Amino acid sequence: MAHYFEENPETAGRPGSVTLVLPDLHLKLETDSGVFSPERVDQGTRILLESVPPPPPEGDLLDLGCGYGPIALTMASRAPGATVWAVDVNRRSVDLCARNARAARLDKVRSVHVDEVPPDVRFGAIWSNPAIRIGKAALHEMLTRWLSRLTPDGVAHLVVQKHLGSDSLQRWLNEQGWPATRTASRSSYRILQVRAREADPAP
Ligand SMILES: C[S@@+](CC[C@H](N)C(=O)[O-])C[C@H]1O[C@@H](n2cnc3c(N)ncnc32)[C@H](O)[C@@H]1O
Repeated sequence: MAHYFEENPETAGRPGSVTLVLPDLHLKLETDSGVFSPERVDQGTRILLESVPPPPPEGDLLDLGCGYGPIALTMASRAPGATVWAVDVNRRSVDLCARNARAARLDKVRSVHVDEVPPDVRFGAIWSNPAIRIGKAALHEMLTRWLSRLTPDGVAHLVVQKHLGSDSLQRWLNEQGWPATRTASRSSYRILQVRAREADPAP
């Protein structure tokens, strides 16, 4: 079975579009088969975008696992002075996010493959609907890689479904030294706020 987190989806493209409607934003986004939630903006993503505090107005921000870009484009629209890195392993997602950012004239979105972010970039905010389905070990590796790159006062917000392990993920984050608290809870979704860990070195 094809997974939305494959690097190069082999399913033939089936272009479509969704609308993202938030109190401050109304965007039409191009989607395609082989990417996450192509028929409608995911409910968890919407809850995250309705719950997060405003991002820092400047600096570098990260959407970890951007898909076709609803989170990255919302960040960029709420922080027009910031550079928003939108990263994914799935090339079709990276391309769609880049196209959607261009169409919305959000030219400070950098939509790139995960290995293409310069190593010295640190993030004042990370927002993510993380790919829980890649499995616990891969999830932990992915979060370790990117949370270690928060600025000292940087904050991450993650949306995770309770039945997909939000409580155990929160515990694991705290055990690893990232102070994690639950800041919102709606339907089956939990928003985890994660602060930078003291042990992580500056670039
Ligand atoms: C739950 S989807 C969220 C997509 C998008 N942010 C949204 O809200 O619609 C998670 C995304 O993470 C991507 N992903 C999977 N493994 C990853 C990894 N190791 N690093 C970065 N992104 C990854 C998937 O390809 C997928 O697009």
